[in-house]
Amino acid sequence: MIVRPRRLRRTAAIRDMVKETRLSPSMLVYPVFVREGTNVEEDIPAMPGQVRYSPDTLPRVLERAAEAGLGAVLLFGIPDHKDETGSQAWAENGVIQRSLAEGKRHFPDLTLIADVCLCEYTSHGHCGVLKGETVDNDPTLELLARTAVSQARAGADVVAPSDMMDGRVGALRSALSAAGLEETLILSYAVKYASAFYGPFREAAGSAPAFGDRRSYQMDPRNVREALREAQLDVDEGADMIMVKPGLPYLDVLRAVKERSCVPVGAYSVSGEYSMIKAAAERGWVDEERAVSEAAVCLVRAGADILLTYFALPLAEWIREGKL
Ligand code: PBG
Repeated sequence: MIVRPRRLRRTAAIRDMVKETRLSPSMLVYPVFVREGTNVEEDIPAMPGQVRYSPDTLPRVLERAAEAGLGAVLLFGIPDHKDETGSQAWAENGVIQRSLAEGKRHFPDLTLIADVCLCEYTSHGHCGVLKGETVDNDPTLELLARTAVSQARAGADVVAPSDMMDGRVGALRSALSAAGLEETLILSYAVKYASAFYGPFREAAGSAPAFGDRRSYQMDPRNVREALREAQLDVDEGADMIMVKPGLPYLDVLRAVKERSCVPVGAYSVSGEYSMIKAAAERGWVDEERAVSEAAVCLVRAGADILLTYFALPLAEWIREGKL
């Protein structure tokens, strides 16, 4: 007698019944860019199909996100005015603050996450204030904390620090508490690698560093144990959720972090992952729907509880149709 997996006998219904990985729209987070201005809906050339909104047009996409049943929308602000310290990041009337307020007003039940970082706001494009040519960690913490507090006040349910400074989760947690914002959740980009796959994002947000790179604060792709340390520190400092970023090249890291963490773990399928599939699909080299679906399934199989992806809207539809 030959014992074997009887895959040939499985009907579609049986395959569906026994599948080990299940996705739902509520685990998807859609990253959205908002810039200054009115009536803006502007294509992002490096990310075909993605656009920059202005605070007044943002509700158009929030409505689609709410209808699709997405878990949340992650907002990135792109200010007109950038300076050395990134002061528009915490300006009461800044583009992200107005976007959050507008979003909450229209869709009070939709979860809004605000990215906390200074690189979109600084004239030099680094994620903190500089001392000479390097980022000065500790003075940056205070500005990040100020940013998170202003975002939470404006309507963010969750703040997501993506700067990778040491001690930022603790700094945000105590500043939020001091401001009476104990309810605000922190989703930390705990494990963020210095990656070439952020290329299209930097075009979208105008946040490429004017000199140097981010290797003094983002992680070395060759390291995985260091990721466990970063994740642990952030959880100890009070992160409610953590994430690994980028997604597909780091499935082993995602799995390792998931196995050792007691908080929900997200995976951020970043701009480069999006644009690679888009570019190949445009040329007819891969089937877009199948490639996107497979990538999403693999990230969830590897351990993602939350999936941050620019494909969130079509994915939600395909999940609804029972295709994944
Ligand atoms: C800000 C930030 C970046 C991304 C998310 N938050 C860019 C960077 O660190 O250079 C990248 C997201 C993406 O590529 O989709 N620090």
